[in-house]
Amino acid sequence: MAEQKATTSVLYEETRIFEPSRDLVENSNVMQWMKKKGFKSEREMRAWTGQHYIQFWAEMAETYADWFEPWAQVLEWKPPYARWYVGAKCNVAYNAVDRHAKGARKDKVAYIFVPEPVDQPTIKITYSKLYDRVNRFAAGLKSLGVVKGDRVSIYMPMIPETAVAMLACAKIGAIHSVVFSGFSAGGLNSRILDAESKVVVTTDGFFRRGKPLPLKPNVDEATSNTPSVQNVVVVKRAGIDVPMKKGRDIWYHELIGLKKPDDWVTDPPDIPALEAEPMDSEDRLFILYTSGTTGKPKGIEHVHGGYCVTPAQTLAWVFDIKEDDIWWCTADVGWITGHSYVIYGPLCLGATSILYEGSPDYPDFGRWFKIVEENKVSVFYTAPTAIRMFMKAGEEWPKKYDLSSLRLLGTVGEPINPEAWIWYRKFFGNDKCQIMDTWWQTETGCFLISPLPITPLKPGSPTFPLPGFNIDIYDEDANPVSPGSGGNIISMTPWPSMLRAFYRDPERYNKEYWSTYWDIRPGTYLAGDKATKDKDGYFTIQGRIDDVLKVAGHRISNAEVESALVSHPKVAEAAVIGKPDEVKGEVIVAFVILKTGVEPADDLKPVLAKHVRSVLGPVAYPEVVYFVNDVPKTRSGKIMRRVIKAKALGNPVGDISALANPESVDAIPLIK
Ligand code: PRX
Repeated sequence: MAEQKATTSVLYEETRIFEPSRDLVENSNVMQWMKKKGFKSEREMRAWTGQHYIQFWAEMAETYADWFEPWAQVLEWKPPYARWYVGAKCNVAYNAVDRHAKGARKDKVAYIFVPEPVDQPTIKITYSKLYDRVNRFAAGLKSLGVVKGDRVSIYMPMIPETAVAMLACAKIGAIHSVVFSGFSAGGLNSRILDAESKVVVTTDGFFRRGKPLPLKPNVDEATSNTPSVQNVVVVKRAGIDVPMKKGRDIWYHELIGLKKPDDWVTDPPDIPALEAEPMDSEDRLFILYTSGTTGKPKGIEHVHGGYCVTPAQTLAWVFDIKEDDIWWCTADVGWITGHSYVIYGPLCLGATSILYEGSPDYPDFGRWFKIVEENKVSVFYTAPTAIRMFMKAGEEWPKKYDLSSLRLLGTVGEPINPEAWIWYRKFFGNDKCQIMDTWWQTETGCFLISPLPITPLKPGSPTFPLPGFNIDIYDEDANPVSPGSGGNIISMTPWPSMLRAFYRDPERYNKEYWSTYWDIRPGTYLAGDKATKDKDGYFTIQGRIDDVLKVAGHRISNAEVESALVSHPKVAEAAVIGKPDEVKGEVIVAFVILKTGVEPADDLKPVLAKHVRSVLGPVAYPEVVYFVNDVPKTRSGKIMRRVIKAKALGNPVGDISALANPESVDAIPLIK
């Protein structure tokens, strides 16, 4: 128990403040709303919307979505089960596509698709074209016998047909389960088995670093023992010869009546429009599997009603999306960020988005910057790991391109080190763009803690809970922590796009998110992250609950030590683990990736350890520093400290097939 009571120490206090420009503040979407409502300050507005969250989410639902039938009740909250917009009928595909295609945005571009091969042309897909393709594929799925409530697994790269497949499912009320195309056949298999999918949609292959690579063979392997799968629909993307199983496998272009694959240009004869299925707002829209602390992935369930509202609203408020913006969220659609901010959020707003198929550094580190320049991207959203990769590559890459179209930047997925934040602002943002550091999760469906364009920023902080949320940091007794100390991020109230359940595992849903504070404050959502608040109320995320170190009674976030290391000019990236120690409980061991051109000299190790001590204090002093070329990461870029720790301590590393770079595990040394 004593261990649990230890407080988290904040060892570093950020003092730099970055104010938004007057122009940004005055013209922002959120400021227009505040003026209309008569709010005098951001603080007052955030507090009021938290207190009146039901009223707030009702107004947002009226503003951002069209409903076939109104709700009888905004919220029914029987903790831990929430039902939003009770009794309403809607369809998120209708909100994302149909209403734009039938209205003023019919010729507006929904997606600018940039293929990875440099010799393939960029394709602009209008809302009416998207409408046509979604209708065709929706009809195709129906012809295969897919009905409302059936599950469809989608295992595809970043191509527009992936969006079509998701939207077509939503349109007919089928539940999509997108599986990241970087997962192996084994990962796909367990997700198909769990979801009992009727259809799998995939491609022959995809392009990666200039090469066409096969994908369909993984599906064949993954479906050898999945009796639920009746058909596999295959998009011809990479021109790879793949075996097609007779009676089961169908070419996508044939199913939807196109003469040739990949055809976004010609207009095939009109097809009868298909009306979107009127869905109950609580009907399931998708399942997305995410990893938890145990090995088995959890199928997170999300619903139509919530998804009609919060991805669009948060995108409009946080990233200030206006009619002429060009939005680029670099996330893969295989993750929640892709679901909410590549597909549903931007489409529901009628925005124009970039969809890029490939690697950020192919054919060189200039690729992303070139895409920004050529397409005049105005709002850009990526992950800290990508930013650190560019930092390592060097500032000469962004400097080669005209990035002046950018007006707002964002980041997600892990804590961003203040040094990376500053670099991002300077070299992507020309020292003028504000950075929206958005904290959220697969479970939340949308941003929960994030700046708005009107918020003064502190590097490395996602600032405050967004309007309409009641987020706080609790100690173990459900008391809000005092400024400077840390605890668990919790939500005291529900929100429209929160997860509704774990697919077929109600017990685990209750246990993981709601049991911790149930006896004290039932209905408190435990996010699973540690955070601190400073004296001004700014949040700093310390990482997952299982990624907090304990050194001599102090809890120290791995991320905090890594940040300190990365702030040294010779360090590109760092991963920190705790090694059991008889006296201190744990001591800190750091694995450091040096910047290109820096020699891994032994005498640099104490220099780095001292640097950490000077930034964070003696308690955070890394006892041992190792130099490595790479550290194990998930495909979404998260450093897998658990794997590093197991390898370094000589324990079994478990299943590492989902890692982006499994070979890096071998290079982690055994520590003494
Ligand atoms: O630990 C937090 C971290 O990512 C976790 C959620 O991961 P996932 O469900 O894969 O979703 C990632 C994309 C939303 C959180 O529990 N995380 C996410 N955003 C941030 C973050 N950590 C620090 N800062 C963030 N902005």
